[in-house]
Amino acid sequence: MCGIVGILGDHEAAPILIDALKRLEYRGYDSAGIATVDAGSLGRRRAMGKLVNLSDLLMHEPITGKSGIGHTRWATHGAPNVINAHPHRAKDVAVVHNGIIENYKDLRDELTAAGTVFETETDTETVVQLCMSYLNEGLSSIDAAAATIKCLEGAYALCFLFEGEDDLLIAARKGSPLAIGHGDGEMYVGSDALALAPMTDKITYLEEGDWAVVTRSSLEIRDADGKLANREMRTIKVDAGKTDKGIHKHYMMKEIAEQPTVLADAIGHYTDAETGTVSVPNLNIDFTTVDKITMVACGTAYLACSVAKYWFEQIASIPCEVDVASEFRYREPPMSDKSVAMFVSQSGETADTLAALRYCAEKVAKTVAVVNVAESSISRECDISLPIHAGVEIGVASTKAFTCQLIALAAVVISAARARGEMDAAVEQELHDALNNLPGLINQSLAHQSHIDAVTIDLAKAADALFLGRGVMYPLALEGALKLKEISYIHAEGYASGELKHGPIALVDEHMPVIVMAPKDDLFDKTVSNMQEVMARGGKVLLVTDQSGADTAGDGVWKTIIMPPVHNMLAPVLYAIPAQLIAYYTAVRKGTDVDQPRNLAKSVTVE
Ligand code: G6P
Repeated sequence: MCGIVGILGDHEAAPILIDALKRLEYRGYDSAGIATVDAGSLGRRRAMGKLVNLSDLLMHEPITGKSGIGHTRWATHGAPNVINAHPHRAKDVAVVHNGIIENYKDLRDELTAAGTVFETETDTETVVQLCMSYLNEGLSSIDAAAATIKCLEGAYALCFLFEGEDDLLIAARKGSPLAIGHGDGEMYVGSDALALAPMTDKITYLEEGDWAVVTRSSLEIRDADGKLANREMRTIKVDAGKTDKGIHKHYMMKEIAEQPTVLADAIGHYTDAETGTVSVPNLNIDFTTVDKITMVACGTAYLACSVAKYWFEQIASIPCEVDVASEFRYREPPMSDKSVAMFVSQSGETADTLAALRYCAEKVAKTVAVVNVAESSISRECDISLPIHAGVEIGVASTKAFTCQLIALAAVVISAARARGEMDAAVEQELHDALNNLPGLINQSLAHQSHIDAVTIDLAKAADALFLGRGVMYPLALEGALKLKEISYIHAEGYASGELKHGPIALVDEHMPVIVMAPKDDLFDKTVSNMQEVMARGGKVLLVTDQSGADTAGDGVWKTIIMPPVHNMLAPVLYAIPAQLIAYYTAVRKGTDVDQPRNLAKSVTVE
């Protein structure tokens, strides 16, 4: 996490750095800072909290210079205060950093023994102090940075700026992504192409272990062995114009409301109306020989995988295993060379998911990325990359990326089922039609917003909430609970309806809302029994179901949200909408920061 940017420009750097940091704030917002060089003189400004505090500071205490670096922080080492904010500086060198320097304690001890006095608790200060110690030994700026980088262990994207050097940035990447942008007589460094989008679409991605000497007129990249490296410059299309909130108060609401459009676009990539078939371009896998699917992801993406597990097993008859990425490789699971490993990630940069991919890379038949950011590390390192077509997602709580992940995964499942002879043309046509009906159904469910808003009047007063689901709706119950807790800070748990009696029912009383996600499917009657168990103990049930489910459920339900009927397989996609809206309106009522909830970040590039 943390967003970094660097500019060697032809205009005042401070406003451009702030603008770029705005597009990186999704990576962290504990503090922000910039440093510039003006006629050789290095200056910096830092502020605690959101970027707006830094902008305010710069109004009163501006800094000048056409070269600069900037940072927005998600705290790892050291409290989120001004002193620990980046850029860190040691006399003649300033550095911004994304990642964790794992050997910082050893380096710090050595430097302290040699007389260096540290002023922060951060791992990053070690980098600037070490670089300064090399400058003190008489090394040039480039050599001092190179010597410093050589000593670092752990994960980093770094950008160095030096006193006396108006035309020099040093950038380095290991474990955390870093892009170099090419302008017209200007050069840029950024955590991603989005940060640089208004300045340039010409991007060179640094590869693992690379470090680069950047000037306005040149770019020299060296690999981990110090050899000159040739990295391709690509034209990356990121529509920075699409990153505003439009008519909406929050990015999250904008992204919820966009779902009919983006899903229609995604579904259009996977379905063919003329043939009534579903296919995935470039999915070069012979599913008849696949003995297992392993899916690895974090957060909401993990829950999309958990839905897909039901689909792979029920529809394509392929055994499927799903793991949270932070645990996966520590189990050291044996992998079959006939298996396929899938890595699902909105950002494509999540450190644990990337590490899981590297664990699997040589062990399985194929690695498949399912990502939103096409140029991301996970996308580039997998054998096959499937884009989810969600467009830029800014709200920290993932919404449209989740439903688009489900669409891409559904298309893979249907392709696999057909290839394995598990699905005939009639069923495929039925699913083709059901997929194409989804955007319309989502539109209908978005029309219930004011009802859902009213339901949250009571929900917002709760201290705890339970979400229940059965079968393919169980992962959706987990997603509903995750959404609610991450943006409203209400403690929420998702449970398989049948597990209720094995513990959580002890929590049920008249203060505990229990949200049941249950379309009228084959499992519905069992879920109604679980609801009765809750209601018999005074629990308040909010039932999200279709009209037929509401009619069957009988009396005693506290509140109901009626959904349009939907194909059983695709119910988790449609029911994601009320789950998102429940969380959204509850958070708005509570006055929490919906788009940037406390302590979270959208792209988690540390383990
Ligand atoms: C963070 C975000 C979540 C996201 C998860 C995985 O926790 O807040 O919204 O689901 O990371 O991110 P990825 O980019 O790998 O999907």
